[in-house]
Amino acid sequence: MAVDAPRAASPGEAAPGHAAEPLLRTRGLTIRFGGLTALNNVDFSVAREEIRAVIGPNGAGKSTFFNCLTGVLRPTSGAILFGGADITGLPPDKISQRGIARSYQITNILPNATTLENVRIAAQSRRHSWSLLSHYRAYRDIIEKSEAALDSVGLLPKAYELAANLSHGEQRTLEIAIALATEPLLLCLDEPTAGMSAAETQQTMMLVRSIAKHLTILIVEHDMQVVMELAQRVTVFHYGAVLAEGSPAEIQQNKSVMDVYLKA
Ligand SMILES: Nc1ncnc2c1ncn2[C@@H]1O[C@H](COP(=O)(O)OP(=O)(O)O)[C@@H](O)[C@H]1O
Ligand SMILES: [Mg+2]
Repeated sequence: MAVDAPRAASPGEAAPGHAAEPLLRTRGLTIRFGGLTALNNVDFSVAREEIRAVIGPNGAGKSTFFNCLTGVLRPTSGAILFGGADITGLPPDKISQRGIARSYQITNILPNATTLENVRIAAQSRRHSWSLLSHYRAYRDIIEKSEAALDSVGLLPKAYELAANLSHGEQRTLEIAIALATEPLLLCLDEPTAGMSAAETQQTMMLVRSIAKHLTILIVEHDMQVVMELAQRVTVFHYGAVLAEGSPAEIQQNKSVMDVYLKA
């Protein structure tokens, strides 16, 4: 399938800030764990409604980058701007309410809750206008949103299954539904196709492409085929720094990127 052309930011959308500015920008983002500099002065920006692949060898800092963006880790220095607002150091729930969601590299669901319950808990966490609605209407609203999120990933028929009984691929897809239920503007997917069969990987790619119509997506992905087909641009991390950035074709031909992957 052809790579989608980069889409221009549309004016007047609900996202905060000005449409022409990047949705997300980091300036000098740095995090140290004792003597290890896991992120070193990262300047990064992503345009609204872009699909950006983030690649790099194991230990390059990709998951740590997502952990900083989502408030799981507090950067040592530097700034994170989202829709023009400084969100550096905000806790995860506040960042989620601003519109950043993520899935984890390791599946992170409640196995003994149903598929729908897993999504409902996430949908509820985003809701902060209880007083505007009766409890019952608010609850119905959340269930409907949760069902819509499940429907958008094709898991609605499994709504009342225990999450533990889903296949590995379905559990990973459920994670995407959980993230979508918080109605994000930016979705960070950390190796969503890890451990998936070729068929499941293909389905996940189609899913990411379909949800990307309304979202900005950062995706950590090792499979270059997936990266080439999905992403408009690719950022390469190496030792916690940005080694290269460009179109998938540019990155595939980049000498220093090739060196890193050949050595890996
Ligand atoms: N919470 C942490 N405490 C200490 N070291 C960490 C922590 N998280 C990540 N690291 C280290 O930071 C580096 C980057 O890790 P990570 O972001 O997981 O890499 P990637 O996702 O690119 O494989 C690794 O050396 C890892 O061991
Ligand atoms: Mg990782």
